[in-house]
Amino acid sequence: MDHHSQAGQPAKLILDGNTFELPVVVGSEGEKGIDISKLRGQTNYVTLDHGFGNTSNCESAITFLDGDAGILRYRGYPIEQLAENTSFLEVAHLLIYGELPTAEQLSHLSERFTEHSMLHEDMKRFFNGFPSSAHPMAVLASMVCSLSAFHPGIDMTNPTGEDFDRIAAQLMSKVRTIVAFAHKKSIGEPFIYPRGDMEYVPNLLNMMFSSPTKEYKIYDEVVQAMKVLFILHADHEQNCSTSTVRLVGSARTNLFASVSAGICALWGPLHGGANEEVIHMLEMIQKDGGGIDKYIDMAKDKTKNFRLMGVGHRVYKSYDPRAKIIKQCVHDLLGKLGIDDPLLDIAIKLEERVLKDPYFVERNLYPNVDFYSGLIYKAIGIPKDMFTVMFAIGRMPGWIAHWKEMMEVPGGTKIGRPRQIYVGPTKRDYIPIIKRGLV
Ligand code: CMC
Repeated sequence: MDHHSQAGQPAKLILDGNTFELPVVVGSEGEKGIDISKLRGQTNYVTLDHGFGNTSNCESAITFLDGDAGILRYRGYPIEQLAENTSFLEVAHLLIYGELPTAEQLSHLSERFTEHSMLHEDMKRFFNGFPSSAHPMAVLASMVCSLSAFHPGIDMTNPTGEDFDRIAAQLMSKVRTIVAFAHKKSIGEPFIYPRGDMEYVPNLLNMMFSSPTKEYKIYDEVVQAMKVLFILHADHEQNCSTSTVRLVGSARTNLFASVSAGICALWGPLHGGANEEVIHMLEMIQKDGGGIDKYIDMAKDKTKNFRLMGVGHRVYKSYDPRAKIIKQCVHDLLGKLGIDDPLLDIAIKLEERVLKDPYFVERNLYPNVDFYSGLIYKAIGIPKDMFTVMFAIGRMPGWIAHWKEMMEVPGGTKIGRPRQIYVGPTKRDYIPIIKRGLV
């Protein structure tokens, strides 16, 4: 399959009375972009785009997202079909290697995950260095970066060869062990090691919740719900953390370190950290008597610096297709586990208001992927500060796939290095300290 963009009719730009032609590229779904990469050389102008809302940093064949139509596809496959029919490992293979695996490729991948699931015993000591109150995202980012100190890096003359396959498997498999160990450390229990006879999600649950004195009962419904969440989080094209992985990796930084930077970006409450914040918000509303009016008003009041967490999205201007699936998943899981969570009732009331209130309607603000996911994690017994860590496990194949795609660009992707419009002081002369303030 050829992933290169097509050429469209060039755009014309008139600057200082001169007309410049700018190439137009067209993607496989008809998306159009004006290629300004030679603009500065030709005109001395740069473009200004706060938050990169209108800027593509690459051509990518991994994920297609139409925010107006609420469409999300990995390598062409609709997210709804993948969430229902595939496993997380199949999706990881699809994202990283471009195609769904054959049975043989899948069992090979699974063997590699088992082979790489343990942490180097010396790394276990690192967990003792963190306070038990440490946020698990801090632990995760540090430990993932530390993996590069323990495992040989990629031969960068062939960055997507065998070394890459090993490191991709190490990352995806070890991240699960790191997360489970971080949890055990925070509750003061001994680590439970990964098992070779368990699939990806049950293995994680077992390491998190079993103990030497009690085996955790793994319910199919719980495994199914977590699998769906991991698949829905697996990639989301050029979001903040993935762009971070690309930017860091564009300096030819190793994959462990690039992904660690992505984890830091994901931690922020406007990005993956929102799933934890949603539960804090719902609990706050509950403690306050359960009425939502005050919070809706606060979210609309620009002097209050309060937002409804789990609502709004840079790209979706209609209902986030992931949120639709997750909402159904919450109902199914809570029903099957016989849990009646009052926070779900508050979330439903909030959503109803958001969908009707002109403030949110006019701004196309809908519940996003983080709005309902925390309720699933909570029902499973995962602590709030581990929610974003779960998001990170899910996003791992996407980050790895984007790093790989970048390395596959013939000649290597250019180093990411944006321009700026300088607005500071113009030239002024140095004044010795004894004279400063006397003028
Ligand atoms: N509550 C109240 N108002 C909002 C919200 C919200 N959650 N989100 C956006 N707005 C308003 C915003 O104040 C602005 O209003 P105005 O035009 O009057 O100034 C307008 O909607 C557009 O918002 P924006 O901040 O310019 O939009 P953005 O694309 O820069 O930000 C966002 C997107 C996701 C950061 C933002 O919607 C937000 O802060 N949402 C809450 C945090 C959240 O749920 N984040 C998870 C995002 S999805 C998963 C992920 O990416 O990890």
